[in-house]
Amino acid sequence: MRTAIYPGSFDPVTNGHVDVIRRAALLFDRLVIAVAANSEKSPLFSTEKRVRLIQESLADLPGVEVTTFQGLLVDFARAQGAAAIVRGLRAVTDFEYEFQMALMNRTLDGHMETVFLAAREEYTYLSSRIIKEVARLGGGFGRFVPPPVEAALREALGLRES
Ligand code: PNS
Repeated sequence: MRTAIYPGSFDPVTNGHVDVIRRAALLFDRLVIAVAANSEKSPLFSTEKRVRLIQESLADLPGVEVTTFQGLLVDFARAQGAAAIVRGLRAVTDFEYEFQMALMNRTLDGHMETVFLAAREEYTYLSSRIIKEVARLGGGFGRFVPPPVEAALREALGLRES
């Protein structure tokens, strides 16, 4: 039984994340999506809400669990019996940060590999931060996020239905 962890802030989950989740779920027997509870960023959505939005967005996908973690990712991954950490790569600009994290995680735990999945072309420019900015400024954002996230963003930002 091969377990992988897909960690992130997911504030909120985007169609880019969902694409990585669907493809990672085909590679591993068990995929644990781990929402970081102690992120230094100040999130729009609570940790519990971010978990719920991921669950609602993946209602049709078996073999995927969604939970939160605190502290070091490698400690959480080890406790879950994970063989690997999954991260999506959108562009070259992601590489430095991702490489730094992967090497730090492998230094902290010599058995922990990071598997990078290349984002699909149409999602390479998406990020939770930029989608929130577009939404706040009144741009159309429905095509970038799953329907439950679109509704949650409208509510959180006090936007009317389009
Ligand atoms: O979606 P993000 O914000 O790029 O995810 C970053 C995340 C949560 C994966 C990263 O910050 C993380 O692993 N945090 C947990 C703390 C930790 O283990 N830090 C050392 C890893 S280099």
